[in-house]
Amino acid sequence: MFGRFQMISEMLKRKFRHCHILRFKFILVLIFTFGTWSFIKVHQKPNYLHREHLELTRESPNSNINCSKILQGDPEEIQKVKLELITVSFRRNPKLTTNDYINMTTDCASFIKRQKYIMEPLSKEEAEFPIAYSIVVHQKINMLDRLLRSIYAPQNYYCIHVDKKSPESFLAAVKGITLCFDNVFIASQLESVVYASWSRVQADLNCMKDLYRRSKSWKYLINLCGMDFPIKTNQEIVEKLKALKGENSLETEKMPSNKEVRWKKHHEVVDGKVKNMGIDKQRPPLSTPIFSGSAYFVVSRRFVEYVLEDSKILAFIEWAKDTYSPDEYLWATIQRIPEVPGAVPASEKYDVSDMNALARFVKWHYFEGDVSKGAPYPPCTGVHIRSVCIFGVGDLNWMLRKHHFFANKFDTDIDPFAVQCLEEYLRHKALYPQVH
Ligand SMILES: *[C@@H]1O[C@H](CO)[C@@H](O)[C@H](O)[C@H]1NC(C)=O
Ligand SMILES: *[C@@H]1O[C@H](CO)[C@@H](O)[C@H](O)[C@H]1NC(C)=O
Repeated sequence: MFGRFQMISEMLKRKFRHCHILRFKFILVLIFTFGTWSFIKVHQKPNYLHREHLELTRESPNSNINCSKILQGDPEEIQKVKLELITVSFRRNPKLTTNDYINMTTDCASFIKRQKYIMEPLSKEEAEFPIAYSIVVHQKINMLDRLLRSIYAPQNYYCIHVDKKSPESFLAAVKGITLCFDNVFIASQLESVVYASWSRVQADLNCMKDLYRRSKSWKYLINLCGMDFPIKTNQEIVEKLKALKGENSLETEKMPSNKEVRWKKHHEVVDGKVKNMGIDKQRPPLSTPIFSGSAYFVVSRRFVEYVLEDSKILAFIEWAKDTYSPDEYLWATIQRIPEVPGAVPASEKYDVSDMNALARFVKWHYFEGDVSKGAPYPPCTGVHIRSVCIFGVGDLNWMLRKHHFFANKFDTDIDPFAVQCLEEYLRHKALYPQVH
């Protein structure tokens, strides 16, 4: 065996002796070619993304709604959507079900391709600034999928809290989706979420703990529910988060006196409803007064660490468990405690309204009106549920000019075109940021 190898190499040596110079030239050309190729490879922008295949336009080919016109606020096009929404053909339009998702996610590669998830960071800046998300859901798997793919980036982390009361099949479908990504997972502890009860806060806390343990790399935490949708791209969110320089951004205002009963009295969940038991509670274990805000926040990693570990905060959390809608004062109050990272002073001069916070754009029925006459936003073009606007396509144009990261609420059963136009717009902007 060895002898044969020697013979061949001898033969080759003899053969190449004649073309020594030729061989040298060949190697030179090879080195030059490789060098040039490496230079181009290093300096060109990553081209692994076939960007045009990742556009979300024309996903529902049976509609002839022009989203560009919708986003410009064209009244005729908005009217066209209104008519389309009441047609029989639209009402019969099949939607992807939990079983479809259970089926689709058995083949992750084809699921990711079909649903057009972006599997590479779109910029170096984004890759170096991971964001963590806590998402609390209980239904509508298609909405969750569309929310997730609109905010998905491989460098981010996503914890999904599924309500314990949700059907088995819903949980299985969410599980299916999470198993297709390394950075998406279901919360390790699931709560049965009762409206206005402590469980809503606990769901976020469970995800907070999981996310905090999962990775040291993320810089900010944003919490969402299944009816939120982004109005900014990941790149835009990263830029704004960097500009916060460690501060948090959430609603925190003076507590209206009519809401004080919510935390001055002991409450209990009775027959699935939070009930005032008519018993006085002790004063909160804080010198900071109680502030009013919302369930949604944009907070730094240091804020999260503090909330999970500080004994004073843990005592406050313990105290808050038997109150009404603690989500609407807990975060707002913690944000005003002096030692908390990124907090603002309790002085009313530091009050932050929902419109000034970055976390969430919401339209409340009783504030809607003529902006030129002092209203904070124009009327809802969708429908109201519990005084909150479920957005219609007519809400998009105005909303997109606001600084918020997310808007609440969207529902594809009320106006699927609002979600469709928004996701198309954001995806295009994410893929071609230089054009905008
Ligand atoms: C949608 O409307 C815009 C004008 O706002 C127009 O430029 C575009 O061609 C329209 N697209 C389609 C598919 O009709
Ligand atoms: C998913 O559904 C398709 C079409 O109905 C079917 O052909 C396929 O066998 C299903 N796959 C699984 C894993 O159930």
